[in-house]
Amino acid sequence: MSGKHLHVVVFGATSAIAEAVCLRLADRMASLTLVARNEDKLSAAVERMGMHITCTVRRVIADLSHLDQHVPLVETVLGSQERIDLVLLAHGVLPDQDVLNANHALAMEMFTLNATAMISLAELCTRHLEEQGHGTLAVLSSVAGERGRKRMIVYSAAKSAVSTYCEGLRLRAFDKGVQVVVLKPGVIITPMTQGRLRTPLDSTVERAAIAIESAISRKRGIAFIPWFWRPVMAMVRTLPEWLFRRLPW
Ligand SMILES: NC(=O)c1ccc[n+]([C@@H]2O[C@H](COP(=O)([O-])OP(=O)(O)OC[C@H]3O[C@@H](n4cnc5c(N)ncnc54)[C@H](OP(=O)(O)O)[C@@H]3O)[C@@H](O)[C@H]2O)c1
Repeated sequence: MSGKHLHVVVFGATSAIAEAVCLRLADRMASLTLVARNEDKLSAAVERMGMHITCTVRRVIADLSHLDQHVPLVETVLGSQERIDLVLLAHGVLPDQDVLNANHALAMEMFTLNATAMISLAELCTRHLEEQGHGTLAVLSSVAGERGRKRMIVYSAAKSAVSTYCEGLRLRAFDKGVQVVVLKPGVIITPMTQGRLRTPLDSTVERAAIAIESAISRKRGIAFIPWFWRPVMAMVRTLPEWLFRRLPW
């Protein structure tokens, strides 16, 4: 299909990765609905995308940690449109595990936001796409979910839950003409990873967005972003625990 035909919805739309993906899709978007919790940050993101996004842009303000609001939110955002082609779930936080080790309530809050809120939106959006009989749900999980880590206990467990849930969703949705794409980025240079030691494996948001666009258009079930994280994580999964314990992650 050529021309502007894609109707796209992004939850967690002020994410740096999500913004780069929107820019990659700009030429093909007929409409873009951006859901974010912070109005000022969302306005700044829309302004940055400026000239590139020439389609209709709709803004919805919502804090995605409010699970009880998800049903009406998804109804408002997806139900009000005739057709949705792509939903991208991009919200998330990478908290300091030392802080969480000392604050149980916060640890559970962070798990709920990264896991339950993501899963809840994935489930509701997939149901909508299944009823429509068409569309793609792309979910930003992480390589962190491939193995429990002492420096990221909460985050890695949450991403593992998201990946596993969405793998199951993909199998269910496939028969109804819907694709669920589980995206597993490695380290991408964004506000989320600011202040961390940089390594040669770190990628830019532009590189991540190219890989994400490709995974979506190829209807990949699970995509490591960039690709080299697949062999890296295959190796990491085989490390014996006595060695894995000694690594700084
Ligand atoms: N960067 C990486 O290395 C990396 C690697 C693997 C996976 N990921 C995943 O990729 C996704 C995007 O991350 P990013 O790197 O683009 O980070 P980012 O720029 O920090 O974006 C995170 C987004 O989540 C939003 N968010 C957090 N809590 C929210 C809430 N309660 N309600 C609504 N929105 C909320 C943030 O909103 P505010 O702008 O209002 O704070 C922000 O838009 C996340 O799921 C992350 O876990 C990132």
